[in-house]
Amino acid sequence: MNAVSQAATKEKMNAAFVSLSKAYAGNLDDPYPLYRQLREKCAVYDGDLVADFGVPSLAAGRDGKRKVFCLLSYEAASKALLDPETWSTEIWREAFDGVLGDPVLLYLSGDTHRYHRNMLAGILSPVAIRDMVDKHFVPTLEGMVKGFADRGKGELMADFILDFPIRIIYKLFGLADDEQKMDMFAARALVMVLGALIDPRNPEEMKERITNAFIANREIHDEILDTVKKRRATGNFDGNDMIAQLLRYSREDGTKMDNEEITQFLLPNLSAAGETTSRGFANMVALLLERPELLEQVRNDRSLIRQVIAETMRYEGSVSVLPRILTRDVEIDGVKMPAGSGVNVLVGAANRDPAAHDNPEEFSLQKRSKQALSFGFGPHMCMGMPLAKVEMELALNTLLDMLPNLRFDPEVPYEGIKGIQFRSPSAINVVWDVPSTQA
Ligand code: HEM
Repeated sequence: MNAVSQAATKEKMNAAFVSLSKAYAGNLDDPYPLYRQLREKCAVYDGDLVADFGVPSLAAGRDGKRKVFCLLSYEAASKALLDPETWSTEIWREAFDGVLGDPVLLYLSGDTHRYHRNMLAGILSPVAIRDMVDKHFVPTLEGMVKGFADRGKGELMADFILDFPIRIIYKLFGLADDEQKMDMFAARALVMVLGALIDPRNPEEMKERITNAFIANREIHDEILDTVKKRRATGNFDGNDMIAQLLRYSREDGTKMDNEEITQFLLPNLSAAGETTSRGFANMVALLLERPELLEQVRNDRSLIRQVIAETMRYEGSVSVLPRILTRDVEIDGVKMPAGSGVNVLVGAANRDPAAHDNPEEFSLQKRSKQALSFGFGPHMCMGMPLAKVEMELALNTLLDMLPNLRFDPEVPYEGIKGIQFRSPSAINVVWDVPSTQA
């Protein structure tokens, strides 16, 4: 592979990430104290905190004019997520404005939603995921870390974290092994997510983002379609990758999916699986690096990793705001919310509600009684959660095994976990020990 074009692709990906991070960062690094203050007064905030923080608010609509409320308590947030007929996910369709094509599971409702969800559940089954772990996921992760392990220092977001979930999904789809294509795929996936950013304050930039997102979508679409066609032509549909499974899939009436349908089925999963996992994993690594004693404990006892993942997703989940639109009038805690209002379900705030968790402001491996809402809840709860958890566990094991004594780089200030809509560090500068034979 040509090193110059590989560097250019990486640069493009990092630029897309920086741009996305800036747009989502807002003007308040740590919103939790304010969430706590507001939640103590009322479970609902009458206004749009996301827009107040200077972040493009999906709930407010493309022109930013829709009336918006925010849900702060665990009870209000979980009830809303459990009832998509009232608190509709249709708002995501408006946010992505066609960028992800159609159908997209997240915007569907009722029986159509259930049908597509069951189908995806069958394909992303634990058996299929387990089958991919040793064959594809572990070699992919180890190969990536091997590429920089002898350096002794690095910036983990750019070196590893932004890229690995997309490479995993690339393998899971069953796309051909080509490192440069995988990098391009990762860059385009970010550009696609960026397209969904509503920012009425800056209509020209918003238009440009959407145009770029459509181009990225088309390029990814064509690459997947090309692979599906070639694979169909071979007549060999063996294996647990998603393309093979979809080629084998029979509907109840015995019909098969055509090439376009398979491509569209896969495409939205890319945006769902990439940045969410990168940022969730980044938060886990950052929270451990901030707590060297806990990191040492985990290094020596890897069975703790699952608890660390669960607590990371509660304490600093990567997705902190879920937008909804109300289909009927609703009243909570004395606040009347008319049909048609936008709602920001502040899952980050709900996850720290003392009514749901003891010592919610503490990062602790104690068993929590309630499920965190960072993967959503109810009918639209994340379909990729088991996959994301497997990825996070494998990736952390790989870093701990291959980068001995991993720690923050004392020479580069660490800026912490930030962001309103999405939360994560934008950079994690680290050092590690390199055995003298490698140094
Ligand atoms: C740490 C990583 C991840 C996080 C934090 C995350 C978070 C979420 C959240 C919050 C939702 C619900 C959105 C809503 O209710 O508005 C969701 C839905 C979804 N996620 Fe994930 N996700 C992650 C990884 C993945 C992965 C790896 C996939 C792989 C395919 C995936 C596929 C999906 C799909 C298909 C849905 C839509 C489910 C439905 O509407 O029924 N996610 N995710």
